[in-house]
Amino acid sequence: MAQPLRYNRRERPTIPLPSTPHRVIAVYPGSFDPITNGHLDLIDRGARLCDRLIVAILRNEEKEPLFTIEERIDMLREVVRGYPTVEVDSFNGLLVQYAQEKGASVILRGIRAISDYEYELQMALMNRRLSPAIETVFLMAREEYSFISSRLVKQVIGLGGNIAGLVPPSVEVRLRSRVLDGQ
Ligand code: PNS
Repeated sequence: MAQPLRYNRRERPTIPLPSTPHRVIAVYPGSFDPITNGHLDLIDRGARLCDRLIVAILRNEEKEPLFTIEERIDMLREVVRGYPTVEVDSFNGLLVQYAQEKGASVILRGIRAISDYEYELQMALMNRRLSPAIETVFLMAREEYSFISSRLVKQVIGLGGNIAGLVPPSVEVRLRSRVLDGQ
């Protein structure tokens, strides 16, 4: 018969873990230029793990985005309309500072392939150093979405390829008019 685990007082961790908050608020940060079905799947699964999920778009003009912040907010709000606990916002500056201001204890990120790992690890460790109480939680992308990126979607539509099923239909319409009709 298996022996019960014995708990040795002296083995207690010296750094106590933060207590579990009553309401878990998570921030899902990103560029979302534009939102893809991979992002949407992460929102769908992430929303089940927390009480409130804030999808936060980084205001970073250096990246020369295809869509303005306001357009990206509109697109995101449209596709998360059916999720009562999901909201869309934007932020400037340090992510952990923004998360603290929102009372969030979790940063949510997705990993598609091993190539994402290094970048994500670096950010997660930096964020932990800046704010140890905030945990980064990773969800693995679903297989069928693991090759999708906003960058590739923009490239494919620009070259006349079919992007149906890669982004929500409303986003496909916006991409078409922006990339193909220049509007
Ligand atoms: O979708 P992306 O472009 O991969 O998202 C990157 C993002 C927004 C998560 C990252 O650039 C970010 O958190 N920027 C905020 C600046 C910051 O906090 N930097 C220090 C920790 S890495």
